[in-house]
Amino acid sequence: MTPLLEARNLRKAFTVSGAAWENTQGRTQAVDGVSLEILRGETFGIVGESGCGKTTLARMLLRLIEPDAGEIRFAGEDWLAAHGSQMRFFRRRMQIVFQDPMSSLDPRMRVEAIVGEPLEIHEPQLTRVARRERIAETLEAVGLDAEILRRFPHEFSGGQRQRIGIARALILRPELVVADEPVSALDVSIGAQILELLEKLQREFSLTLLLISHSIPVVAQLASRVAVMQAGRFVETGSAARVLSSPDHPYTQTLLAAVPKLPV
Ligand SMILES: Nc1ncnc2c1ncn2[C@@H]1O[C@H](COP(=O)(O)OP(=O)(O)OP(=O)(O)O)[C@@H](O)[C@H]1O
Ligand SMILES: [Mg+2]
Repeated sequence: MTPLLEARNLRKAFTVSGAAWENTQGRTQAVDGVSLEILRGETFGIVGESGCGKTTLARMLLRLIEPDAGEIRFAGEDWLAAHGSQMRFFRRRMQIVFQDPMSSLDPRMRVEAIVGEPLEIHEPQLTRVARRERIAETLEAVGLDAEILRRFPHEFSGGQRQRIGIARALILRPELVVADEPVSALDVSIGAQILELLEKLQREFSLTLLLISHSIPVVAQLASRVAVMQAGRFVETGSAARVLSSPDHPYTQTLLAAVPKLPV
């Protein structure tokens, strides 16, 4: 079966300037030759420390930034070559859930406008009634009451705001959802509920999920396959069960050793 998303040798470097008085410039290789295959319907996890390049990789996969080198295929087609209407068609099939539900939602927009915005862009022909129905249906799927339509983001708790962000990502019925640290801004118990929600939605909507986190327990809870990322590269990829129980790479072993054990 063709993977839903396939990347070969993706690379991205950034120019970083030193302090103004130093007048120096350097390049940092944020993503240094990453290849991956994500199968339809699976949850693929990427785990690695802060700064290892996870977000940069995710943004390239969605073409929010362009790679310096490499290839990306989505549903077997050359995603980097897509433009115009084909590009818009790809865009609606992949959506992202952000880390910080406070800064990713426009504080001046009501829930209805936030969740409905992707519909305005991609399905402008929908009638007002049909649009409202889709919004209500999607809010219900993420465990929110349609009564909140007229409210603003600041009126909600962090967990509820993340549900709003997820509803916005889901409203176009994407095939791929990228969740970049979706729970790291939340309390552990609230985060656990959001992970359960993602799991439920994945089943209900047959989503393919790319789950990115610095936390092994978070990735372990949902992912069927895991890649371990260090300094811009994947050092190990395999089934979650295998990678997390008998890791091959010393870096994975170090990461696992740092996970606090629960008392039994
Ligand atoms: N727009 C940018 N300009 C310059 N450097 C950048 C930019 N974005 C990322 N970087 C650098 O690229 C490297 C990888 O950053 P990235 O945000 O992808 O890591 P990450 O794994 O998502 O980290 P975190 O866990 O903190 O979210 C870091 O050294 C970062 O400073
Ligand atoms: Mg990041």
